[in-house]
Amino acid sequence: MSAKLWGGRFQSGLDPDAAKFSISLDFDKVLYPYDIKLNIAHSRALQKVGVLSAEEYALLHEGLTQLRIDMDADLDGLLENDEDIHSAIERILTERLGDLGKKMHAGKSRNDQIITDVRMLLKDEIVEIRGAIRDLIRSLVTSAESHIEWLFPGLTHFQPGQPVLLSHHLMAYVDQLMRDDLRFEAVYQETDVCPLGSGAMAGNTYGLDRDMVAAELGFSRITTNSMDGVSDRDFMLSFCSAAAICSTHLSRLAEEMVLWSSPLVGFVKIGDAFTTGSSIMPQKKNPDIAELIRGKTGRVTGNLVNLLQLIKALPLTYNRDLQEDKPALFDTIDTVKTSLRCFAKMIPTLTFQRDAIDRALQTGYITATELADYLVRKGVPFREAHEITGKIVLHAETHGVQLTEIGLNELQNFHSDISEDIYKVLSVADSIEAKNGVGGTATIQVQSQIKRVQEIFGW
Ligand code: ARG
Repeated sequence: MSAKLWGGRFQSGLDPDAAKFSISLDFDKVLYPYDIKLNIAHSRALQKVGVLSAEEYALLHEGLTQLRIDMDADLDGLLENDEDIHSAIERILTERLGDLGKKMHAGKSRNDQIITDVRMLLKDEIVEIRGAIRDLIRSLVTSAESHIEWLFPGLTHFQPGQPVLLSHHLMAYVDQLMRDDLRFEAVYQETDVCPLGSGAMAGNTYGLDRDMVAAELGFSRITTNSMDGVSDRDFMLSFCSAAAICSTHLSRLAEEMVLWSSPLVGFVKIGDAFTTGSSIMPQKKNPDIAELIRGKTGRVTGNLVNLLQLIKALPLTYNRDLQEDKPALFDTIDTVKTSLRCFAKMIPTLTFQRDAIDRALQTGYITATELADYLVRKGVPFREAHEITGKIVLHAETHGVQLTEIGLNELQNFHSDISEDIYKVLSVADSIEAKNGVGGTATIQVQSQIKRVQEIFGW
């Protein structure tokens, strides 16, 4: 391993297996832009209190700026077997600037440094993820708009329940995603706090201007307790839990895509760009991307549990265990972001199949509840109306007919108040339009849901 940041009090080197075991560079190297930025801001604070001269600060600023350019061009080419990204940056800078590179670490610790880096990265990633949520919402809203009046079977227990508009079904996912967006917004606020200046855990002795550093790094506030500052990982837990909930939503939508696109159901065809063939069964068009989105939810949920377990019962303050927080966090970021992006692009490739949907609407006596409600409007107590309707459904089933195919005389045998207007009530379209309260499936209600979302996003 390259020269350590902590060699002084040690007489022998680290056991080779232990050295390998403790390296975090493989995963924390992605933090380099943030760590460089942090070092610039910290150097400025050191200059302000006189630890560095103006000239030294200028040289460090220049050296770090050049390093950023070089790392952008070939990160791996610059890294050696450094312990972590902080060690690598300090090593390279010292190779290039001599002793000045070694001056930069005064007043900070990798303990406050790592968590400041991670907070910076996560803030950027939350912006990206919220953008991806917004794109998916937009795809769903667009699809809802273009299928605004399509009738669709609404299910409970995966059994025909009540007819709805397809657009209403799609907008249900929009509501879920709007909540996800709010959750990520709250996580952003929680993450937007700068711990730098907490030092190893007790604070720093140099009187560093923490507010200045925080402002330079784009934070809106600073942490208020140095011990909590270096050990707090709550914002990661909040992020991973928001991500687990969001992923769970995606898994539900993905599951619907898988079911709807099966030839057994046939409600939708997914575009070629998001399906794959089988190496053996030539007829297959598999919804692999939807399946993967569904499957990856397990990783995202697992990452949350991983982090909770990591942090459980850790004494204050920094413990090396905390190095393990990053693989779970980074994997969550990547997985959720790509799942959202794939989904946002998959939705516009869907072609809904009117015939199959209409056929499904003819099964399961999907407007039976309307009949019960009709009887209630005639003054029959609901429980009794439910019972009578059940008998009519049984009659239809026994005779192999739809509710609308039962003659008026026969219907009147079940209840004398049933009259000709029942057939309109039993029609799918009328049943939908009757659900005209706020949040219901009537066309104007769905249109106002769509409008509300469009207004929120300014579309
Ligand atoms: N690689 C470490 C991490 O990810 C950085 C902090 C190390 N601090 C220490 N005192 N060993 O947490």
